[in-house]
Amino acid sequence: MKELLEKINAIRSELINELKDLKDQAALKTFQETKLSKKSPINALMSNIKNLQGDERAAFGQAVNDVRKEIQDAFAKKQAEIQEAKVQEQIAKETIDITLPSVDYKVGGINPFYQIIDEITDIFVSMGYEVKEGPDVETDYYNFERMNIPSNHPAREMQDSFYITNSILLRTHTSPAQAHVMDEKKGEPIKIICPGKCFRRDDDDVTHSHQFGQVEGLVVDKNINFGNLKATLELFLRKMFGEKREVRFRGSYFPFTEPSVEVDISCMECHGKGCPTCKGTGYIEILGAGMVHPHVLEMAGYDPKEYSGFAFGVGIERVAMLRYGIDDIRKIYQGDVRFIEQFKDK
Ligand code: DAH
Repeated sequence: MKELLEKINAIRSELINELKDLKDQAALKTFQETKLSKKSPINALMSNIKNLQGDERAAFGQAVNDVRKEIQDAFAKKQAEIQEAKVQEQIAKETIDITLPSVDYKVGGINPFYQIIDEITDIFVSMGYEVKEGPDVETDYYNFERMNIPSNHPAREMQDSFYITNSILLRTHTSPAQAHVMDEKKGEPIKIICPGKCFRRDDDDVTHSHQFGQVEGLVVDKNINFGNLKATLELFLRKMFGEKREVRFRGSYFPFTEPSVEVDISCMECHGKGCPTCKGTGYIEILGAGMVHPHVLEMAGYDPKEYSGFAFGVGIERVAMLRYGIDDIRKIYQGDVRFIEQFKDK
């Protein structure tokens, strides 16, 4: 028995030493196949068990099992070490040299057209307005009839557009959004803005284009009066153009509002003295507005005796041109990056 135990010990030392020297996966595999398999030297020792009796037999079996367990554990540990070393080696190989200069990506700017929409939207959303969108392709019914512009109305003359059929056209203003929203809200109070594109026959020059943007606004509720319109637009214009702006309301005419006004702000260049920017008048026209015409309310099923409202329409390019000193409206559409880049950090 003593002899056998010594033999176990010898095998144990030998295997532990061998394990220490293993360097790679291949060596691990060979060790596993020859030293941990059925035909391993440890298992071979077991054949001696038949020559032992009783306690000795149990003690010997136990000793062999202990060594087997020890070698298996040592093997697993070595296996993990080799695996980890391999991963580390891989990581070292793949290290990125962060001192290399990177590819120079060009980041563009947001077109001033959309910056102005965002800014106007922020101001009205802060006052509790909802943002709605109407269709660019509109019916004659919504674009004109519902805006109180019947087919024989002279206002149609100024608002020719691109016609798809006799009764379908590219909308000439964002005002028809008013009728769509009133139809949708079915007699409920309304407080919306609608930014979008419009199309109109116009003299294409540095300040006019056959395609342009507007933000429409509409408030409908009980007891809405002209004071609400004035206060709202004064607040909006001062937020947009600065607290010092004088805001002037001039009587005007729109078929869908009564009374109607055009709204001017004092010139930001000369502060009302008169200069080329304001063509010597001291004021710059900025938007159209008015109290919603009773017939427009009626056509949408709102009782004008109970409900009233105000509406307004702002030209987006006009605001952008004044705000950034852009001298030609066409620059806004041409997509020239040298132009757009100037509005990157605005
Ligand atoms: N729709 C008008 C236009 O295109 C602008 C406008 C004026 C809208 C007065 C309104 C308004 O809502 O009340 O020229």
